[in-house]
Formats: sequence, structure tokens, C-alpha cells
Amino acid sequence: MNARELIDTARALVADYKGLLAMDESIPTCNKRFAPLGIPQTVEARRAYRELIVTTPGLGECINGAILCDETIRQAKRDGTPFLKVLTDAEIIPGIKVDLGAKDLAGHPGEKVTEGLDGLRTRLTEYSQMGARFAKWRAVIVVGDGIPSRACIEANAHALARYATLSQEARLVPIVEPEVLMDGEHTLERCGEVTEKVLRIVFNQLCNQGVLLEGMILKPNMVLPGLTCSKQETVDEVADATVQSLFRVVPAAVPGIAFLSGGQSGELASARLNAMNVRFKSRLPWALAFSFARAIQQPALEIWRSQESNVPAAQIALSHRAKCNRAARRGEYNSTMEKNLSMGTTLPQLVSPAA
Ligand code: 13P
Repeated sequence: MNARELIDTARALVADYKGLLAMDESIPTCNKRFAPLGIPQTVEARRAYRELIVTTPGLGECINGAILCDETIRQAKRDGTPFLKVLTDAEIIPGIKVDLGAKDLAGHPGEKVTEGLDGLRTRLTEYSQMGARFAKWRAVIVVGDGIPSRACIEANAHALARYATLSQEARLVPIVEPEVLMDGEHTLERCGEVTEKVLRIVFNQLCNQGVLLEGMILKPNMVLPGLTCSKQETVDEVADATVQSLFRVVPAAVPGIAFLSGGQSGELASARLNAMNVRFKSRLPWALAFSFARAIQQPALEIWRSQESNVPAAQIALSHRAKCNRAARRGEYNSTMEKNLSMGTTLPQLVSPAA
């Protein structure tokens, strides 16, 4: 294992107040996002959408790394330039999602375990040779009556640790993503308890397997009330609960924590990340960054709707969310940034897909 290289890459991923862009939706997930907008669920539509993202002007000013999926890492711009080259030319580090999805956990109704360890060493070697420098694996933890079970947390934590060691062996920085889902009626306190328990067991497994903590990034959920919980805490309360849980369980040796957005709106995700960086600025042992998919992409996708003429406006929207999140890392985001976009930018006229 090349420890120095892993440490340098991990630090570079969260350097300079920038963050990560998750654009690694699997084919079914990408199609699910396309369907309600009338976008064709085809290889070409997915390629064109990813071309829109990677060619967004100035993306590298806010984004250090982009996470791709297996389909996208092999794709190219319409003019033939591989996406990997487009990203590295923009000084964005390419990464790859390597899990094969969350499947039902046998014997535990309602719970999931992420698969993909079989043959992983060979796949990691190929991605590393292609030019990827980091790898992501997502575990899914559902909160409900009597769940998550210890069995579910341990199975997922073990898989995360196995993938993380294999990634480091292949010179790829692991982005360790244990996601406690927002779905449900649970309170913020319950989300905090579950998040802490999951992270404790994950770090225990990472240490058992010998993962170099300085050469990884943690990608957790924020500590949030369930989507249908009657009490929805303020931005500051969410920031305090999230950082309190992280202080308790994430070793200071980890260089960066890059949150997933999990279905929060882009504006809320930016506001909550900003509040964490404002309120704990001088006390954080790790960089508090972002690795959002929906909270960066969704407005752009809704503008694009597979119309070539909407590409410039969609790119402005994508770039705007990336800028808001860079500002949030500095603790300099505020809602006037959102107003500035709607008032100060003339969006090209939008076209809707043909019926
Ligand atoms: P969201 O930000 O949309 O939750 O996606 C992050 C991610 O990478 C999920 O694996």
C-alpha cells in the first residue's frame, strides 16, 4: 500500500473548501430520476446528461472529485473525448462507485445489506489502471420499529471495511458511506443515536481490517429528524446534533467528512453544512465537506429535460449549487446567494421535451 499517495489524495479531495460531486447513480436510479421529467431512459440520454455535468464551465473551482458509475467511467463526450480526460483536464479527481447495490438482508425483513465484494479486487485494479483515484461504497441503514438490528449494522460495517482495505490495496482512497436514511417518523434524537451506533461499529471494523484512517474519507448522513416526524428542528439544531455525534465517534485522524444529501433540498443541505462550519469553525479536527448528488444536480436535471438547448441554463444551475456549497464550507453561504441567481442571471429560454 502506498500510504503517502493515499493520504495526499484523501487530503486533495477535501482541500481548498471544495467538495465532491456524486454523479454515480446506477442505471436504474438514474432512469428513476429521468422518468418523472419525461427524459428517455437510454444509454445516450444518460451519456448526454453526464456530458452536461462534466463540461459545466468552472466546475473545478468548487469540485475536487467526481464519483462516476461503471457505465459513465467508460463514456465520452460526443466529440469522443473520454469523460476521464475531461475531468482531469478540469483538475477534478475521478472516482468510482464500486458497490453493487443494497439488497434485502436475509432473515431481517425491511433491512438491507450492500453487495459487491466478490471479484472486487479485480474490478478495483481495472478502475485504478483506468485512472480512478478513489472508490465509493454505500451501505443503507433503515430506521424503524426495532430496526436497525445489530446484525444489519455489523454485516454492513464488515463489508465497508473489507471494501475499504481492498481499495487502499489498489491505491484508491475509500469513501466510506454508511447512510442512515431520512425516511420515517423517527426523531432527530433517534437519528443521532443510530448514526453514532453505526459509525462506532464501522470504525471498529475499519480498524480491525487495518484501514489507514488518514487515507480515507467518511461520507455520512447529517443527523436529521425523519421526513414524516412532526417535529422538524432548525438549521442550527441540526448542525449541533450532527457535529456532536461526529465528535463522539469519528477519529481525528480521518482527514475529511463529506456529507451525502439524502433527499434534502439543495438549499437546506447548503444551509445546514454552512451552520456546522460557522458554529464549530475553530474546533473541527476534520474538514466538513460535501459529496452531494441530488442537492447539487436536481435543479439542473429539471431544467435540462434532455433538450440540447437547455444545456447552458442547466449548467448555470449546477454551477450555482456547487458555488453555494463551497461557500457553505467557508461558513459564507446565505440565502441571498439564492436570490442573486434568480435576479442576476439571465437564463436562456427553456424548451420542454416533445410530448
Ligand atoms: P445524495 O446526495 O442524493 O444523497 O447522493 C449521495 C450519494 O452518493 C448516494 O450514494
